[in-house]
Amino acid sequence: MRLPIIAGNWKMNTTIDEAVTLVRDMLDKLDRIAGVEKVLCPPFISLSAVRALLLDSSIKLGAQNLHFEQKGAYTGEISPPMLAGLCEYVILGHSERRQYFGETDEIVNRKVKAALKAGLKPILCVGESLSENEAGKTEEIVTRQIKGALAGVDFTRDLVTAYEPIWAIGTGKAATGQQANHTIGLIRHTLSDLYGEPAAQAIRIQYGGSVTGANIAEFISQPEIDGALVGGASLKAPDFISIVQQTADAKQA
Ligand code: PGA
Repeated sequence: MRLPIIAGNWKMNTTIDEAVTLVRDMLDKLDRIAGVEKVLCPPFISLSAVRALLLDSSIKLGAQNLHFEQKGAYTGEISPPMLAGLCEYVILGHSERRQYFGETDEIVNRKVKAALKAGLKPILCVGESLSENEAGKTEEIVTRQIKGALAGVDFTRDLVTAYEPIWAIGTGKAATGQQANHTIGLIRHTLSDLYGEPAAQAIRIQYGGSVTGANIAEFISQPEIDGALVGGASLKAPDFISIVQQTADAKQA
């Protein structure tokens, strides 16, 4: 049995004060929900403040990106050793990073390796665009992204993967549970090619893209889907709590 994992990707939202308020609004209720791994990924500048609030809780902390170098002349960047000890997870290869910041499969691969070397757990995102989807290229794209990101990476249970179709992110137009389950099954098949079936069965794969309290049940009831990477709805305490609670209820049922 894979432990379900719900992660909130706050993206470029919240000042430090707003981040602290948001965590305070969800902390007690979220903390009490068992049977689900809960991860908050605020902006870099709020990691320290949020970490202090989460210290005695069951809620984990994640970053949204990192640079693959250890240190040096990379103005404005954050390295893996800076994050290690501060947070446990790091989102890598998000489509917004690929789209707006030119991240290629090769860069994502270097980031995955650097994260693991520093003891950070990657949440590796993959997903196709609308035109790729309509051209029937979903399998080809996600397979290329998974193989590219994991080239030369040994199997580890620390790896989490997220299937996030770009057309579903921030659009309010989520995939159907069946669609997501199908593609996540293909991703698991690719992981099986890379690492063997028992290893592939141990890796958690989330769905992401317009997940809300109103549709999480549809995703979490699917056998291949091990949780969700939540953007917009993770910025509203009641919505995020509801998503985590429904996940706990569904997976324990
Ligand atoms: P969304 O974002 O839930 O706002 O669609 C998901 C993500 O990009 O991780």
